[in-house]
Amino acid sequence: MDPTIRNAKLQDIEFVLSGIREIFKIENDIFVYSEKKKLARNAIRDKHIRVAMRGDKPIGFSWFKIGDLTPFGLDYGKWSRKYCWISFVYVLKNYRNKGIGSLLYEDIMRICKRKKVKQIMLDVFTVNKKSARFHERIGFKPLLSIFTMRAR
Ligand SMILES: CC(C)(COP(=O)(O)OP(=O)(O)OC[C@H]1O[C@@H](n2cnc3c(N)ncnc32)[C@H](O)[C@@H]1OP(=O)(O)O)[C@@H](O)C(=O)NCCC(=O)NCCS
Repeated sequence: MDPTIRNAKLQDIEFVLSGIREIFKIENDIFVYSEKKKLARNAIRDKHIRVAMRGDKPIGFSWFKIGDLTPFGLDYGKWSRKYCWISFVYVLKNYRNKGIGSLLYEDIMRICKRKKVKQIMLDVFTVNKKSARFHERIGFKPLLSIFTMRAR
């Protein structure tokens, strides 16, 4: 049976934070628990997090925001239209490759349609090959690449 998807509640916060901790590990980024907890609490209050439930168990989540400000102050071009920025999508390890990530995206698409959002954006770290493959399969295309190197 398909999982149900609902708005996150405060009781989901540790589940969401553990998922983000895992994503940061994949992306070699530094996870600061207290900082993310504050952001997660606000995002739950503002209904920016959706949780996939199998019975009583949270098994995945999406975290996104609809607005018209360019994310991170980066100028991507003509983005004055309303868009949806996806911060995180996560599915518990044992539940991956069963279509739950795709269901979380269908849920986001439904919300975007209702709110007349025309564009959806997210960033994918190059090291996260599975995420890149997943997002390309469901229809995303790379927009730009940010290159980096250690200064010497
Ligand atoms: C990326 C992520 C959210 C995808 O979630 P998922 O539930 O595994 O997604 P799906 O099951 O819909 O799709 C995954 C794969 O399973 C396959 N699949 C989907 N339904 C399937 C089914 N019923 N049976 C077998 N395979 C299936 C898909 O073809 C897909 O293949 P692909 O990855 O090569 O495109 C998940 O891997 C994850 O949480 N990763 C860690 C966190 C992360 O990196 N998040 C993204 C950055 S924020």
